[in-house]
Amino acid sequence: MPSSLLIDTPELLIAALQRLHEAFIVTDADLDEPGPRILYANPAFTKMTGYTWPELVGRTPRILQGPETDHRVLKNLRSCLELGETFEGETFNYRKDGARFVMRWYIEPIRNAAGEITHFFGIQRDVTAEVEKNRQQRALDQAIGQLTDSVVLFDRTGRVRYANEAYLEWSDGLQQVAIGQLAWKLPGAPERVTELHWARKMLGSGREWRRTYPVQQRRGVAERRFVSVTVSPIRDRAGNMVEFVAVGRDVTERRRLESIAEAHNFHDHLGVVFSGIRHELGNPINSVKAALQVLSDGFQTLPLAKVLSYLGRMGEELGRVEYLLRSLRSYSLYDEPRPELIDVEAFLARFKLLAESECERQGVQLEMTVSDRADTLWADPQALHQVLLNLIGNAMVALEGSASRQVELEADRQGEHTLLVVRDNGPGIPPDHLPHVFKPFYTTRTGGTGLGLAISRHLLSLMRGSIDLNSSSAGTEARILLDRQDPTRFGGDEDSTP
Ligand SMILES: Cc1cc2nc3c(=O)[nH]c(=O)nc-3n(C[C@H](O)[C@H](O)[C@H](O)COP(=O)(O)O)c2cc1C
Repeated sequence: MPSSLLIDTPELLIAALQRLHEAFIVTDADLDEPGPRILYANPAFTKMTGYTWPELVGRTPRILQGPETDHRVLKNLRSCLELGETFEGETFNYRKDGARFVMRWYIEPIRNAAGEITHFFGIQRDVTAEVEKNRQQRALDQAIGQLTDSVVLFDRTGRVRYANEAYLEWSDGLQQVAIGQLAWKLPGAPERVTELHWARKMLGSGREWRRTYPVQQRRGVAERRFVSVTVSPIRDRAGNMVEFVAVGRDVTERRRLESIAEAHNFHDHLGVVFSGIRHELGNPINSVKAALQVLSDGFQTLPLAKVLSYLGRMGEELGRVEYLLRSLRSYSLYDEPRPELIDVEAFLARFKLLAESECERQGVQLEMTVSDRADTLWADPQALHQVLLNLIGNAMVALEGSASRQVELEADRQGEHTLLVVRDNGPGIPPDHLPHVFKPFYTTRTGGTGLGLAISRHLLSLMRGSIDLNSSSAGTEARILLDRQDPTRFGGDEDSTP
């Protein structure tokens, strides 16, 4: 070491300690009262504690202690010092004016040439603000960690910096995988490119983005979920956007339950139902009555051909009544469904066999795909059969006039539900009709009663099932979700993997 760096005058050291911003004291080595006595304290220490140097000299640091000082820390300190070891710890101390603060300090013994401890020195720091900040941070971390909503933080470049437990669980991911990834490539981000562009545009201009949308991709699981997400910018003190926080919630189940509840509301609309029935029965009855009147008035004069035509029309009208009665029958027939555990593959194969001939007659090709993951479902087989027939019937009507007519029947597992899809490649339901299609007696075609979908939804709701429709100009798909297992079953060896 160059001799110029050797400090041979204690004055120089003292001068340095006097200017140090860190509080520093030296005591003697006597740990019992009235020791350890303070032999030196720098100005940073007197400033921190509020005691003047004359008030400190010869006194013990115990003067800083008070009612909330942690005695376990002091005990630990004492045993460390008795063993000649370094001590590091923190607890509440009190300034001269009685104000409480958190002191963190570090004590080291000073030994003579013979190795005996002659003094101790301590470096102390008021860490109240730091501890409070950490406490708040921990509380916040815990609160966010315990939220059932997903929380993801990402920076301006879109790189994820934090994802809470709820998100990791929902996405089936691992923290290491999510951190550093691009937020819009994560499970739960909107998958439609236009939506993504819009989100980035909104956020880029400092506005909040809020949407409920379907997502297909979770890691390793291809299933459709609905999420409700809000992304907002986080700004620093100067108002610059530094990060973004995304808060999301999976609303799939809520939507499902809402749709079941909505189906139950059916009963509240009995007035609509009765007027529909009145209309459906009233028209053919009036028309039959009118025909009968004509026949009885002209009984002797009417030519035979005319009589036959009137009789034919009456037959047709009665056919309409019969059709309506059949539909209504299926509505109440399964009012008390008897659900059982159904083997999806076997059930659909049987259904296909029965439906196929009708499809063929109408020139419609019926395809069936059952995923390996679709094993069982919980439903009344007859009611479900009726629902599928209704849906296939609708699909066939939609396909009338189309060149290539296809209906696909698919089954897959979606978490604890089994998903059944009936898809056609017809022209689709116009968007302004879509919100009404489940309403009873709502129909866009002549001849239909408008009961098929309403009844299907009702039957499904009785079996804790739900149905929703997606439609575009490429076709329509009806998606049914039913419990995979008996929902009333307790315990069991259920495999919880989705
Ligand atoms: C160098 C040195 C600095 C100390 N600084 C503090 C301090 O800042 N706050 C405090 O509560 N105790 C401090 N102490 C501890 C007390 O002086 C005392 O040793 C402690 O209360 C344990 O002894 P006791 O159990 O007999 O009270 C310090 C001790 C030494 C040797």
